[in-house]
Amino acid sequence: MSDTTNVLQPEHPILPQLAQRRSPRAYTSQPVSAEVLQQLFTAAGSAASCFGEQPWRFVVGSQESSPEAFQKILGTLAEFNQSWAKNASAIALALAKTTFSHDSNPNAWAKHDVGQAVATLAIQGVELGVQIHQMAGFSQEAARAAFEVPADYELVSVFTIGYPGEVEALPEALQQRELAPRSRKPLGEIMFEGGWPSVQGERYDQAQK
Ligand SMILES: Cc1cc2nc3c(=O)[nH]c(=O)nc-3n(C[C@H](O)[C@H](O)[C@H](O)COP(=O)(O)O)c2cc1C
Repeated sequence: MSDTTNVLQPEHPILPQLAQRRSPRAYTSQPVSAEVLQQLFTAAGSAASCFGEQPWRFVVGSQESSPEAFQKILGTLAEFNQSWAKNASAIALALAKTTFSHDSNPNAWAKHDVGQAVATLAIQGVELGVQIHQMAGFSQEAARAAFEVPADYELVSVFTIGYPGEVEALPEALQQRELAPRSRKPLGEIMFEGGWPSVQGERYDQAQK
């Protein structure tokens, strides 16, 4: 079932899955099945990557099928993130292989490509009724130690995976954040057709005449 809570109202028409993707902090207790997890991470692996390196790696913990890993990843999160992430069905640690396999040189695009993979997974999730919530609020050192991550892999982010739940189930402060209007920078601030905007007219659509 598609998530109709706090759908983004974009400036121009976009795919409905993109508008419905959001980062919830309320999740239902419905487990995300092994099959759905496989679909999500297959979607992640479909992303483009520099030299086709596919530098993304994911350590996944499911409350149902791998509760120890779930708790280990949860334990690396900042306290605030733990408070709501503990209710998700699954949690994943996203890592980047920082060197190219073909010549062992540093891959400056590794984290870029991991981001693409996670974004792709998020959209596949919306199609399947699942929402993820990415987090930077975790300890990279704790995650590295917990899973004995090799030195040439960087810890990028952690994200929860689950079916979005009732906003009312959250503490008051989180309810407000869950329903706060979702705004995006206007196109004129992020898209500069024809060149970088001049100092006088930072935004071409607001340039001084
Ligand atoms: C890399 C990254 C790190 C984030 N870190 C956190 C975090 O630590 N805790 C949190 O509650 N949300 C975190 N978020 C969620 C953002 O706050 C959220 O994506 C943003 O407010 C836009 O909301 P939306 O995803 O619902 O459109 C993070 C998102 C990204 C992409």
